[in-house]
Amino acid sequence: MSQITELKSHPLVSHNLAILRNKDTDSQHFREAAHSLSRFVLISATESLRTVEQVIETPLKRTQEQILADDIWFVPVLRAGLAMVDVALELIPSAHVGFIGLYRDEDSLLPQHYYKNLPDFSKQTSTCFIVDPMLATGGSCIAAIDLLKEQHATDIKLLTLISAPEGIKEVFAKHPDVSIFTASIDEHLNESGYIVPGLGDAGDRYFGT
Ligand code: PRP
Ligand code: URA
Repeated sequence: MSQITELKSHPLVSHNLAILRNKDTDSQHFREAAHSLSRFVLISATESLRTVEQVIETPLKRTQEQILADDIWFVPVLRAGLAMVDVALELIPSAHVGFIGLYRDEDSLLPQHYYKNLPDFSKQTSTCFIVDPMLATGGSCIAAIDLLKEQHATDIKLLTLISAPEGIKEVFAKHPDVSIFTASIDEHLNESGYIVPGLGDAGDRYFGT
């Protein structure tokens, strides 16, 4: 399995990545570019959602369309994951939102868990989209996937804007069933665990911290 989709070859993805990466981009333009990129990643990741046929009556004729078959959950990894939620809910207003709070310890780079608000997913057929703009060492995303699986989630997709090869390898080693959708696979991690070329600290730049 272990499937990754990178969207950088699309001119608008590349254009918005340029805005996001530029150290001189202010928070307002950073947010706009993050939202645009999130839209591309979300559209790509939702392409294979299961659907069922629904018969409907237009004012003119009886016809049929495919509608979403399963419950959709977006699960942002706080805090930077919030950058992708508004666009996600614009695309699927009927979706649910769960929350996972994690921050990376600056020395060990290990994820520290501080919050969770998730249902028991065994009660309905659900697709869970973890949203987090940055996949660096992979520690945070792996912890988020572990937490979702503890809640019996089975169909999990990971949506990021920028991913490091090291983190992708770790996620696939621990969770080969999870597919990843990302705007860009970057070069590598530096000695401080930052993605290179990357964009710096996504949460700080998005929230203007
Ligand atoms: C960032 C990012 C990921 C994590 C990625 O969050 O949003 O959650 O780092 O790093 P990893 O792959 O090495 O775990 P951060 O810890 O900076 O917290 P924040 O979102 O609150 O800023
Ligand atoms: N988190 C970020 O926000 N940026 C990185 O480069 C790595 C982790």
